[in-house]
Amino acid sequence: MDTPSIPNELIEALRTARHVAVLTGAGVSAESGIPTFRDAMTGLWARYSPEELATPEAFRRNPRLVWEWYASRRQMVTTAQPNPGHFALAALEALVPQFTLITQNVDGLHRRAGSADPIELHGNLMRARCSVEGTVYTSWTEGETVPPLCPVCGALLRPDIVWFGETLPPEALARANEAAKSCDLFLSIGTSGVVEPAASLPRIAYNRGASLALINLDVTTSTGPRSYYLKARSGVVLPALVSAAFPKAG
Ligand code: APR
Repeated sequence: MDTPSIPNELIEALRTARHVAVLTGAGVSAESGIPTFRDAMTGLWARYSPEELATPEAFRRNPRLVWEWYASRRQMVTTAQPNPGHFALAALEALVPQFTLITQNVDGLHRRAGSADPIELHGNLMRARCSVEGTVYTSWTEGETVPPLCPVCGALLRPDIVWFGETLPPEALARANEAAKSCDLFLSIGTSGVVEPAASLPRIAYNRGASLALINLDVTTSTGPRSYYLKARSGVVLPALVSAAFPKAG
């Protein structure tokens, strides 16, 4: 797929923005070889649906199965690398006065690309937490007991992921809403925009007067004033957009 032409108005909006807010989804990591949630239901996992693995009920029913599913995803992420889309967003952070990165991804690739403080709305695969008292762990020992046990209270550890039917971390959601309300340019990248509450963020920003750009591979209906749609791979279009707005930064 060729790089689409980027509207001059969008380049100008990025060049002059005081606060850029960005929402990313699974599409941003697709070029790193990380399949979206549903696409990952292959091989050994083909007979399960996401609802059978990514819910609190599933974990209560079969904690071992759920832990092993996330362990397989973790393994995939460990061997993947951030792609040019992740790196362009990390570079952009240093080029605009204020920058907020909000992600629905749990793969940690924004951080590995150099983004300082992404707001992780759906948690992070590389963390676990105690299923009873909530203590968060960034390392643990995989041993005979699957899932491993909390070293403090002995309860099961669970992935530190927001499952279907669970609420988002309130502080992360508040920060994301605040950014949507106060930015003057909002970029929604690689997300189908169907899972709430993240899906509302672009509309909140647009209704408050921000310019809005949607970047994904879906078919989208026509856009309005201050609103741009780029049907393009993020790993291609983001470096092009950033260098068009900030040619000297290269
Ligand atoms: N570049 C840009 N966009 C892409 C690319 C790419 N290379 N590849 C795919 N896309 C787009 C698709 O066109 C689609 O719009 O990425 C989007 C992926 O959509 P989803 O798979 O629905 O992912 P996402 O929006 O992140 O899902 C939200 O739902 O599965 C749950 O909790 C999970 O965080 C996830 C949430």
